[in-house]
Formats: sequence, C-alpha cells, structure tokens
Amino acid sequence: MLTDLQATLDTRAEGRGIQSVTLQAVKSLSSGGKTDNAIIQGDNRIALELLKQRYKGKVRCAYIDPPYNNQEKYTHYVDDQSHDTWLDEIVECVKRIKPLLSPEGSLWVSIDDRQVHYLKVALDDVFGRENFVSTIIWEQRTTRENRKVFSNNHEYLLVYASDFKKFKDKRGLLDWNQEVLSRFKNPDNDPRGPWQSISLNVQAGHATKSQFYELVAPNGKRHSPPKGRCWVHNQDRLKQEIAKGNIWFGKDGNGVPRFKRFLSEMRRGFTPHTLWTADEVGTNDHAKKHLLELFTKQDVFDTPKPESLIKRILSIASEPNDLVLDAYLGSGTTAAVAHKMGRQYIGIERGDHAATHCVERIKEVIAGERGGISTEIGWTGGGAFHFYRLDSRSDRSKITGKRSRK
Ligand SMILES: C[S@@+](CC[C@H](N)C(=O)[O-])C[C@H]1O[C@@H](n2cnc3c(N)ncnc32)[C@H](O)[C@@H]1O
Repeated sequence: MLTDLQATLDTRAEGRGIQSVTLQAVKSLSSGGKTDNAIIQGDNRIALELLKQRYKGKVRCAYIDPPYNNQEKYTHYVDDQSHDTWLDEIVECVKRIKPLLSPEGSLWVSIDDRQVHYLKVALDDVFGRENFVSTIIWEQRTTRENRKVFSNNHEYLLVYASDFKKFKDKRGLLDWNQEVLSRFKNPDNDPRGPWQSISLNVQAGHATKSQFYELVAPNGKRHSPPKGRCWVHNQDRLKQEIAKGNIWFGKDGNGVPRFKRFLSEMRRGFTPHTLWTADEVGTNDHAKKHLLELFTKQDVFDTPKPESLIKRILSIASEPNDLVLDAYLGSGTTAAVAHKMGRQYIGIERGDHAATHCVERIKEVIAGERGGISTEIGWTGGGAFHFYRLDSRSDRSKITGKRSRK
C-alpha cells in the first residue's frame, strides 16, 4: 500500500501555505488483493513527489501522453493553456519522473507536430542530448482531413533513456511474424531443427588474400566465389564448418554452398524501426471504437491511445514484472495494457475519469475483457489494483513549530 508515503510541499507562492500530502486508499474503487498496482487521482507533480520516496530508480518504462495544448475543450479535460505554462508543467512533471527511472529505464512522450520541436529542446535539457534515443512517427489516422492545408495523419513519440547505453543493451525486439518464421525450414531433417540458408560470399572490397580460393564440396565439386566477391571465411574455417554440417550444398550436393543459420540459435525478433503504421499499432479511431465497446454508460474519452501502440512501447522498453508509470493516464490505456502484459503499474490522472473510466476499465480487464490486445496476447483476466486519492492538508507545524492534526 502507498498510504504511508508523506510529503511536505511549500505552496505559499500559490497562496496555499505549507501542505502535508498523503495518499488515501479508496477501498470501494479498488479491486482484488495484495498488489502494488496503483491508480492515483490527483495532480501528477504532487503524486510524483510522494512516489519518489519509494520508487527512486525503480521505474523501467514511463509513458506520458500530456494534453497537446491544441486549444480544444474535450469532455473530460480542457487543453487551452498558454504555451509557456503548458511547457513548464510538462517539464516539471518530467523532471520528477527522471529520478524514478531505473538505469535501463526510458521515458516515451506522445506529442503532435505543433509542439514536438519545443518539447524536444526542453526535454533534451532535462535528459541531456546524449540520452535522446529517437523520434518515432506514428500514423494515428488513415482517413484524409480535407478541411486542412495538409491532412495531418501522424504524431510523434519522443524517446529518452535514463542512460542511453544501458537502455540499448536491454531494449526488447519486436516479435517475428509468421512470414519470417516460415523462412526457416528443415529439408535435410537436421536434428538441430529448422534453419534458413544465408550467403557464404561477401563483397571483395575489404577482403584479405585468404578469402579467395576454390572451396571443395564433400562430393568433390569445386566452387569459386562470384566475380567481385570472396568467401566470408578462410579455407580452414570453412572446412571446419563443413565438418560440423553447417554448410548446405543443395538437395543433390551440387548447389552453391550456403550457410545454415538455425532458428534455435538466433536471438529472435526485429529491431524496432521509427515508422509505426496504423496497421501495426492501430489509430485513434481504433482506440475510440474499443472504448465504445467497453463503456456503454459513460461518455467516451475523447483522446485515447490504442492498446497496440502501448503494447509495442512496453515490449521494447520493459519486461514482465517491471514497473510502468503513466503520469497522464486519461482513460487508463497504459494501466490496462501493463496489467494484461504482466507489468506492475502506477497511473496518475487528475480528472474524475480516474474513478469513472480508469477504474471501470481495469475492473473489466480483471474480469477478462476481450478487446484491445486481449486476443493477441491470450488475456483471460485476473490481478488486482488499488485506487488512491491525493489528500493535502495545510501543515501549520512547519511555520509555528507545532504538528498539525489530521
Ligand atoms: C491526452 S490525455 C491521455 C490519454 C491517455 N493516453 C489514454 O490513452 O487514454 C491527457 C490526460 O492528462 C490529464 N492531465 C493533464 N494534466 C494533468 C496533471 N497535471 N496531472 C494529472 N493528470 C493530468 C488530463 O486530465 C487527461 O486525462
């Protein structure tokens, strides 16, 4: 439980004096038994102050999807601050997230075309340019917006690492699809299992003399590398590979020699690229449709992210049981995906939809809801979370020397 966390905040500049802040658990809005999974209703900057006491260096992946400052009035929040206030608030939040990240941890920030450049410069200042990892383009809509000069069909994800090198060493790969797996076959019934053949020759540009020779196949046939190319290894090394059964000369033994690369010996997965298409990770419309199916009683949240997008982020940036943080939880997408993917999570949302939408959504997830990424990952339900509200009281003891009474 997070109820023993306590912080003292100096809010005299805002006319609210010295505040003592704690988290109050709300049993009626929680579900299941013992867990550290938490949904916190309150301002993220205050909640993060509290969390730093327990979670310094513990968060493997933080995702934030702040309001984009596009001057819209949504049903559940208003997005019309001045540019400077908007930027200051996000930077304040990110400054508090950074110390919570583990050494291999990362922060992922959703943002649009209007603000990405300002935010990038501001966040470079917080993380250091050396810890900027990449800007990902996400195709967030596939329909055309004809009223605009350009139909804006993409958004960005800015990715920062706590420590670039440590993040790189630990980051996850994306699952191979069936198309890639089907390239591995076993025409010679090799006991080591399916394999894929790859070229044994390379461009001759940087070759040494020892890479040019006639390779003799087990049936005596002699093979030379094609013009302008050489063998990848010298003659002794290739003889050893042939003896180990690692070279394939075709079904009849007369084919061009190729190397056998075994599926069982490979690190499986794709290196993630920087262009994430709608058919891979979904669109805003997909996310809204999912919420419409999920909530028949409430107003649907206006700006949800699709579960597949968050799944991809968590696949790259975390492993099962790692702690995931979202400080702008909205409709609870990150918490729902983290829950389904077996990550621990803390979500912070200041609006009442923390209770009306996030809680209802996670309760559905625990009951085994079938939308979003559920089918793909075989989600069947289970788990628990606690709901907390920020409670702040004026603490006069910090001014008068007396302890305040709760
Ligand atoms: C764009 S939405 C997030 C949507 C979310 N990714 C989803 O998939 O549903 C931004 C959310 O941040 C919340 N928010 C804005 N400022 C906040 C603050 N200082 N502390 C906590 N939540 C905040 C808003 O109420 C809103 O729900």
